[in-house]
Amino acid sequence: MFFKNLKTEILDGIMVITISRQERLNALNFETLGELHKAIRVVYDDFGIKGAIITGEGEKAFVAGADITEIAKLNEINGRKAAETGQEIFGMIENCPKLIIAAVNGYALGGGCELAMACHIRVMADHAKFGQPEINLGIIPGYGGTQRLPWLVGKGKALELMLTADMLGAAEAKELGWANYVVPISELIPKCKEILNKISQKPAISIGLIIDCVNSAFSKDQDGFQTEANAFAACISTGDFKEGTAAFIEKRQPVFKGK
Ligand code: COA
Repeated sequence: MFFKNLKTEILDGIMVITISRQERLNALNFETLGELHKAIRVVYDDFGIKGAIITGEGEKAFVAGADITEIAKLNEINGRKAAETGQEIFGMIENCPKLIIAAVNGYALGGGCELAMACHIRVMADHAKFGQPEINLGIIPGYGGTQRLPWLVGKGKALELMLTADMLGAAEAKELGWANYVVPISELIPKCKEILNKISQKPAISIGLIIDCVNSAFSKDQDGFQTEANAFAACISTGDFKEGTAAFIEKRQPVFKGK
């Protein structure tokens, strides 16, 4: 895969996607968003990939937001389309049946905070910061931040963060539930790989269905309980269900095949 603004590497079934525009603090211009879309498509489609890590190049920024030089040129009509496109790509990340972890290596601001929140799990370097400072530019979060920030940190704190544009550090991120783990930068990618390796031992169909069901808890269009019951029933017809239950009864480790 060749991308202009992303570096990708697949090792032991884990795809590491590194956003690579260091001179702009890895800000997401529209070209980079398009490339991210293509990379996530590969995560969906390649049977050899069991999960992905999204990070930013260097130690200063994960992603310092949408590229403000492009945002500054939007009008009301293409502004709506820009937000819808970003929301669609981040929705693909959120709904991916394989685990996607954000390795937050530095500033996760605006679209960067939104990107990290679309990932299933966030591991944060101890010097990193997150925030939604769009209000300072006379706009608001447009790639899902007004929805996902309250889901993660609660309504009151989310409103405060978006209205003040304040940035919070890793300790607060962990305390609020924004970050699952905080680690020194040298342990960031190893910690993400450890989580991915642990989860990818589990039955793949159950992983995807748990992601679906949890997402449905935050969807106004779906009955989450019915989604769960349907997903539970779907598991019953898998070989991994037969293997998991048989292994328990036979007192041995299960060998899951992902089907
Ligand atoms: N879009 C475009 N360029 C950006 C950017 C963004 N979101 N964030 C940073 N950059 C650029 C800066 O303009 C600067 O470019 P220059 O070297 O040509 O002047 C370069 O990246 C380095 O950033 P700089 O602001 O000099 O670094 P800093 O250490 O002083 O501050 C931040 C770091 C993250 C606090 C600051 O860059 C910032 O506030 N960025 C914007 C955050 C934001 O509002 N995001 C939401 C966008 S919708």
